[in-house]
Amino acid sequence: MNESAKVYLVGTGPGDPELLTVKALRLLQNADVVIYDRLVSEGILQQIPTGVSKIYVGKQTGNHTLPQDEINELLIKLAETERSIVRLKGGDPFIFGRGSEEALLLAQNNIKFEVVPGITAASACTTYAGIPLTHRGLSQGVQIVTGHSQAGRPLDLDWASLADENKTTVIYMGLANIELISTKLIQAGLDKTTPAAAIQNGTTGKQNRVLTTLEDLFVNTQGLQAPVIFVIGKVVTLAHQLDWFTEENVIEGEFVDNEKLLHG
Ligand SMILES: C[S@@+](CC[C@H](N)C(=O)[O-])C[C@H]1O[C@@H](n2cnc3c(N)ncnc32)[C@H](O)[C@@H]1O
Repeated sequence: MNESAKVYLVGTGPGDPELLTVKALRLLQNADVVIYDRLVSEGILQQIPTGVSKIYVGKQTGNHTLPQDEINELLIKLAETERSIVRLKGGDPFIFGRGSEEALLLAQNNIKFEVVPGITAASACTTYAGIPLTHRGLSQGVQIVTGHSQAGRPLDLDWASLADENKTTVIYMGLANIELISTKLIQAGLDKTTPAAAIQNGTTGKQNRVLTTLEDLFVNTQGLQAPVIFVIGKVVTLAHQLDWFTEENVIEGEFVDNEKLLHG
């Protein structure tokens, strides 16, 4: 076993490179090898010094993501020869990022690791869209859920508890199921006029926000492409007044261009 090897599972935040933590930046600058996928923005990759090996494990030709077990094998293999292995994750590694699965694998294989939290999309993208997650009198709390269902299985969320008009609900990976999600929330008692938003490419120069209501969320967000988060709750009403994010705030925050990476 390579005693000096350590794997760092590092959250990058959702796109704007200036949302990297000081710790994430230091680790990137001292890495021997960096592994990253499609949710890591170009601006963040530019923080990696030339000469450091970069391994892309995101979308491959034909749109298949490298299977998780192959990423696992890669991490174990790199830990045999390298010293500082940085595994970058968009947002926070422990929020819908499979960071905990990778950490378990490392623990089971007696490979040393550290986890570096990152700013998750629910926090950063809403802030950049002028939507506070909580606000006195409008929202007492936040519920973060996945809108993605396991292959071949229906989306099974606790609709009754999600349909809470005093909380903000943030849905990750919900594009394919947003019609069902809106319908179920309305059926569970949430008013159809509840303010709702979609934020696409949040915190980057391509950020796009749609401000609407729960009943119109599906029709008004058709055609949006990932990454998108949905926000449902009264706090969305503040978005017009708190719209601070403009072109001049943008540093190189574009997402990785898969085609460019694969074909030069
Ligand atoms: C696999 S999850 C990873 C979440 C990540 N670990 C985090 O903490 O933000 C991917 C989903 O996160 C959300 N997401 C991540 N980055 C985003 C961004 N810049 N803009 C909008 N949504 C984003 C989208 O819902 C996307 O489908």
